[in-house]
Amino acid sequence: MRSFEGLFLAGLVSGLTVVEHKPFMRKNIDPIVFPGRYVSHMHSFYGSDVLTKDLPTTAQLQKGCPSGENPNDLSVYWAPTLYYVNGNTHTEIYPATFKTYYENIDRAEIPFPRDLVMVAGNASAKSQADVQENLNMITWWCDGNGPEDRNKRDRAALPLSTCSAHLQAILRFPDCVNPNKISEYTYAAAHGNKCPAGMKRMPSLRFSVRYNTRGAIPQGWKGVPPIKLACGEIGVGYCFHGDFINGWYDDAAKTMLQAKGQSFMRIDGAHGNGKTYSKCKAKDQDPNNGTSDYHKSLEMMGKGGHS
Ligand SMILES: *[C@@H]1O[C@H](CO)[C@@H](O)[C@H](O)[C@H]1NC(C)=O
Ligand SMILES: *[C@@H]1O[C@H](CO)[C@@H](O)[C@H](O)[C@H]1NC(C)=O
Repeated sequence: MRSFEGLFLAGLVSGLTVVEHKPFMRKNIDPIVFPGRYVSHMHSFYGSDVLTKDLPTTAQLQKGCPSGENPNDLSVYWAPTLYYVNGNTHTEIYPATFKTYYENIDRAEIPFPRDLVMVAGNASAKSQADVQENLNMITWWCDGNGPEDRNKRDRAALPLSTCSAHLQAILRFPDCVNPNKISEYTYAAAHGNKCPAGMKRMPSLRFSVRYNTRGAIPQGWKGVPPIKLACGEIGVGYCFHGDFINGWYDDAAKTMLQAKGQSFMRIDGAHGNGKTYSKCKAKDQDPNNGTSDYHKSLEMMGKGGHS
């Protein structure tokens, strides 16, 4: 069965692969925005479990255990935690699937550079106008049989009635980088679908998260949903954002560039078949610091109280 997303993207992408990941940690850290500190809003983490409050290199990530299915991908990925809010109680809504797609590989000139660190989305967005959907594609909807209500609300708000299957979010990352200064990156779509001078095209990374709202909120909702991102307000998804630190092994990152045409290609490498989860168990490497509790995270952010 093809999802709406499949139909929507089929004409746009060329050359693709995808990796599914399990969450391994929920914590109030962000080694990109707040390195060394426990003062972030809550994030949910996927990928190499080396990640702590400190920004790792690609080589350091490759010493970890991956929570994803591809043992050649030791990257780490994170997004703000999604909560079901019931009075004062905040309960994480876990994804049924968290997938990272790599798309438009036909157009890529280089693999992800080592130590590449990227952020997509706007963690302080408070309205649709703050979102830049034309670049990052941030959209929330009910997948499967809907109900479809994207034309009746902001596309980065949340659906106004219970999803028949999962609540889905997508987020596209920048796909142009300056290989000589990897902190400079942008979207080809912002430059007439070409990378600016001095930049090279990479595979286009996209998060696709299918949140299991039926498991978390069996009674469903009507009207503004009792759902909140750690970065935002109840009922809206504007502040959805994502972070990526490249941990792909060089051989597999190069193999990825061979994905062509419209079909999916599995990325194997020296560390194994791309669809075999590793035997190790990814876990928090710094369990005694920081917090996984929503209210405690607000205190540690210096806000205190409840929001
Ligand atoms: C991000 O959101 C803030 C609102 O908090 C807004 O002022 C800013 O312009 C947005 N950034 C972009 C790039 O749209
Ligand atoms: C983290 O926890 C460990 C073990 O409890 C402790 O020794 C260490 O000082 C803590 N680190 C920070 C930065 O608080």
